[in-house]
Amino acid sequence: MKVLISEQIAQKGVEKLTQEGVSVDVKANLSRQELLQVIGEYDGLIVRSNTKVNEELYQHAPRLKVVGRAGNGVDNIEMEGATKRGIVVVNTPESNVVSAAELTIGLIFATCRNIPQLHNRLKERVWDRAGLKGMELQGKTIGIVGLGRIGSLVATRMKSFGMNIIAYDPYISDARFKKYGVEKKEKLEELMALCDILTVHTPKTEETYGIIGKEQFKAAKKGLTVINCARAGIVNEEALIEAMKEKIVKRAGIDVLEGEPHATSPLLDLDNVIVTPHAGADTVEAQDNVGITVAQEVISALRGEIVPNA
Ligand code: MLT
Repeated sequence: MKVLISEQIAQKGVEKLTQEGVSVDVKANLSRQELLQVIGEYDGLIVRSNTKVNEELYQHAPRLKVVGRAGNGVDNIEMEGATKRGIVVVNTPESNVVSAAELTIGLIFATCRNIPQLHNRLKERVWDRAGLKGMELQGKTIGIVGLGRIGSLVATRMKSFGMNIIAYDPYISDARFKKYGVEKKEKLEELMALCDILTVHTPKTEETYGIIGKEQFKAAKKGLTVINCARAGIVNEEALIEAMKEKIVKRAGIDVLEGEPHATSPLLDLDNVIVTPHAGADTVEAQDNVGITVAQEVISALRGEIVPNA
């Protein structure tokens, strides 16, 4: 059995596959054309966020039996094409949630205290805090859109900073809101009007793409901080830029950008936007977890065994 790994995963994952007798090629820098040329040789493919696994790829992959997504969600994988060909798609929904929640919190602190801007000034040997006064979190309200695995980790952690936690998630039971001590908001606009910090933690679906857009920013409390460590476009980039121009949004922390990894968003040019390159899951711990989990799932799928997270 041959597996292609088209984006970097932890060495522990690669070792697990080889120990189980799978022949593995790690080719993290293939162009799309090169990927399409070689994919026909493989029974399995492991990807992260950058490889688009779509009809075009499936048509070049007659041997493909399993696609492993080393991460949460499957938004870069066309499920219909996989299903009709009997290709199993697996992912690792639990393995990196703590890291994603922790980067979210990192961006909250970085934005609210202007840490990168202050750092940059001092590295230029300028000892000057002028114009970069921060905002304390205690007593403020954080609005969470999506109270799933990552959203609930953010909620419990931000509580310890004395924040009020409100959330919007029509798919989550009242019992779960209660369990995390989070006040439920039935309407997104209501949440927007109340929160000082907004953070989104939904998967990217037709329903959630652009869920925070022009209308929602119109309803927002002035001076809002916006954090997106979920997926590009859940917060509409144009609407965010507009809301910043109108001073509705004061600052933003963004880990995911339209067009990534070749993002050209004007958000990259704004001083009050702190950006990271889709690094939410990029910790040693999360990558070890993800790598080992996806490897085990791919092995099971290749053996025709029942696979969790399929
Ligand atoms: C995830 O979906 O969990 C991450 O986006 C995976 C990644 O870092 O590539």
